[in-house]
Amino acid sequence: MKGIIYNAVEEAVTELYSADVWDDLLEAAELEGHYTSLGSYDDSDLLALVSAACPMTGLEAGDLVKTLGRHSFPHLANRYPELVDSSQGTHDFLRRVNDIIHPEVLKLHPDANPPKFEFEDRPDGALRVTYQSERKLGVLAEGLILGAGDRFGEQVRIETIEGAGETVTVFDVHVSPVD
Ligand code: HEM
Repeated sequence: MKGIIYNAVEEAVTELYSADVWDDLLEAAELEGHYTSLGSYDDSDLLALVSAACPMTGLEAGDLVKTLGRHSFPHLANRYPELVDSSQGTHDFLRRVNDIIHPEVLKLHPDANPPKFEFEDRPDGALRVTYQSERKLGVLAEGLILGAGDRFGEQVRIETIEGAGETVTVFDVHVSPVD
């Protein structure tokens, strides 16, 4: 996984907890840290960080990854401010991640392997999102989508349809304005 993701996770942990907690996590996970945006690191680093963080936070792994995704979103989005600012809300933005942002990431970092998404508008107004990746990180996608909702001032409810924790996960993203 690219260092960009580890940098965003570090920023999320620092913001939610503190820089000391990030250092404690690295130590507990027996990792060096020093992630650079251009570098590539084993996916196992992410798993080790999550395993170390569960007992420290009292959260179970899925909820923790979702929280980290949600709070990492602003840091990732900062890389493409104009695409965020010109989006018409969470649904519109998600299509841009797949059509523009992740392909741009691939151009800049040919060794990256971002997930693939398919979209379908549902009769009830939800956006059906099919996530596909060998990494089985659909729960991270959920967190990032919640973070996008925060950014666009929308309340997002994610309903898992099938395949939770699998290489293909389908979920419906329901969006409503925050009261
Ligand atoms: C906002 C700007 C975003 C940027 C700059 C960005 C960039 C990236 C990068 C660099 C990776 C690492 C790929 C690799 O190392 O192989 C990645 C992975 C990922 N991205 Fe994005 N991303 C963004 C938004 C999103 C959003 C909104 C979602 C949710 C739909 C998303 C879902 C994911 C997931 C789940 C992964 C983990 C890899 C996997 O599941 O295979 N990203 N992204």
